[in-house]
Amino acid sequence: MSRLISFVLNASTVTFDVPAGRPLLDVIRGDADLKGTKHACREGDCGSCVVLVGEPTGGAVRYRAVTSCLMPVAAASGCHIITIEGLDPGRIGPLQRPFVDEGASQCGFCTPGFLVSLAGHLLNCTTWDVGPAFNSLAGNICRCTGYASIQRATARILGTLRHRVDLDEPRFAALVREGFLPSVLRGARALALGLEPSTDTHGVDRPVAGGTDLYVQRPDDFSFADVALVPTRRGGIRIEGGEIVFAGSATAEDMKRSRELAAELGDMTGAMDLMGSLPIRERATIAGNFVNASPIGDMTAMFMALDAELELVGDGGRRALPLRSFYLGYKNLDLRPGELIDSIRIKRRPGLLFNFEKVSKRTHLDIASVNTAAALRLENGVIVEAGLSAGGVAPVPLALVGTEALLIGRSPDAETAWAAAHSAAAEAKPIDDVRGSAVYKRLLLRQLVLAHFQVIFGLADELVEVPA
Ligand SMILES: Cc1cc2nc3c(=O)[nH]c(=O)nc-3n(C[C@H](O)[C@H](O)[C@H](O)COP(=O)(O)OP(=O)(O)OC[C@H]3O[C@@H](n4cnc5c(N)ncnc54)[C@H](O)[C@@H]3O)c2cc1C
Ligand code: FES
Ligand code: FES
Repeated sequence: MSRLISFVLNASTVTFDVPAGRPLLDVIRGDADLKGTKHACREGDCGSCVVLVGEPTGGAVRYRAVTSCLMPVAAASGCHIITIEGLDPGRIGPLQRPFVDEGASQCGFCTPGFLVSLAGHLLNCTTWDVGPAFNSLAGNICRCTGYASIQRATARILGTLRHRVDLDEPRFAALVREGFLPSVLRGARALALGLEPSTDTHGVDRPVAGGTDLYVQRPDDFSFADVALVPTRRGGIRIEGGEIVFAGSATAEDMKRSRELAAELGDMTGAMDLMGSLPIRERATIAGNFVNASPIGDMTAMFMALDAELELVGDGGRRALPLRSFYLGYKNLDLRPGELIDSIRIKRRPGLLFNFEKVSKRTHLDIASVNTAAALRLENGVIVEAGLSAGGVAPVPLALVGTEALLIGRSPDAETAWAAAHSAAAEAKPIDDVRGSAVYKRLLLRQLVLAHFQVIFGLADELVEVPA
C-alpha cells in the first residue's frame, strides 16, 4: 500500500506515491534519482547517507542532520530535505574548496555525508570552535582518506566563518550570503513553510518514532509497508510546577540542547554526548529508548536513576507508571496494545547531583558493555536521596535498590564509595555475551560506581587502594 507524500527536496516541491515506510534514502536515490547520497551500512553507523531535514515549527525551519537510511519517508512529509546536490553552488564553493585543497577526499564515497553533516553543524552551532564541529562528524566514517585532512578542512571552514558571520545573526541567510549555501535554498525553505505534513497514522504493528531501533532490527517489515508514525512534532522539554516534563517524542539531541534541562540538571545534558552520534541523537526519542527495552539503553539508565514516571495514553485513557515498574522481564513491558508513552516526568530536586558513566568499545556510536547513572542529594554532609541504576548487568535495565538503601545517611567518602561499589556488583546478574564476560561486567559496574564518586565528589587518590 502506498501514500502520496509531499516535501521540498532541495529547491522544489516533490510528491511521491510510495509506501510510507520506505526509507528516505531509497526515495532520494531511487524515486528522485539523486545518487549523491550514498548507501552503505543501512544501520546508522557510517553517515554516508546523511541529509538535512528542515522541520517547519512556529514559522521557522530547523535543520537537523539525520541518517536517511533509518528514516521513513512519511516522516519527511511537509519538511525541507537538503541533499548533497542541494548544497551544490554550481562550482566548487567555500564549503567544498577546503576539502579539495586539504586532500580531504580520496575515493569520495564518504564525502557527501561529511559535507552535509558539516552544513548541519554550521546551521546550528553556537560557537565557531573546532571541537563541537569535530563532534558533529563523529557519525561519519571515512575508510580511505583518514581524518586529519578532514579536520584540517573543517578547521579552515570555521576559521573563515568566524571572521564573517556573527553568531547572533540569522544563520541560514548568513550562510547563503557567504556562499556556503546556494541562494536557491532560501526560496525552497519558504516553500516548506507552506506545506502541510501528512497526518495519516495507520500501519504495521508498531508505531515508528525515530526509527533508529526499528529500522536496524526489522528493516524488511517497515521498508515496504505503510507505517504509523508516533507524533514527533510536538512536545519537547518543559518545567511544570515541581516537575521536569519530557515529551515521549523528545530526542536525545532535544535533551542536549534544552536550556530548561541545562538549568535544572546540567550534567544530564552533558551526558548525551555519550549516546550515539549527532544524526542518531537527532532522531532517537526517549520513549523509543524505553520501549526498545534494551538492557543497555543509555536514556533508560539515566531516567531510572532519576526515578522517572511515565504517562501512558491509550484507548483505556491515561495512566501513570514508574519507569522502574515498566520492565517485567527481558523485552517484556507493562505496555498495553496501542498504548503510547505520552510524557515522562521527573521531580525537580534542587541540589541533585547527577552523573552518567558508560564503557563501550568505541568512544562514539557504540552501545555500552555496562552503563550506570547516579542521582544523589546531600543534606548536612550526608546522602539523603540516592538513585542508582545500571545497564548491561541483568536482563532488564536495573535499579540498584539495595545499594540505594545502603547509601542513605552516609557521608560521600571513600569508605561509602567502596561499600556502594561492592554492593552494586553483588546486586547485578550479568551474563557472558558479545560485550564481555559476566566477570568483566561485574568489575566494570564496580569501577563505574567508584567513578560516580570520583566525578561527583572529587574523590580520586582515596579510591585507588582496594580496601581489605
Ligand atoms: C548507529 C546507532 C547508534 C546508537 N547508539 C546508541 C547509544 O549509544 N545508546 C543507546 O541507548 N541507544 C543507541 N542506539 C539505539 C537507538 O538510537 C535508541 O534506542 C533510540 O532512543 C530509539 O528511539 P527511536 O525513536 O529511534 O525508536 P524507534 O526505532 O522508532 O522505536 C523503538 C520502539 O519504541 C516504540 N515507540 C517509540 N515511541 C513510542 C512511544 N511514544 N510510545 C510507545 N512506544 C513507542 C516503537 O514502536 C518501537 O517498538 C543507537 C542506534 C543506532 C542505529
Ligand atoms: S547507510 Fe550508513 S548510516 Fe545510513
Ligand atoms: S574518501 Fe574514501 S571513504 Fe572517505
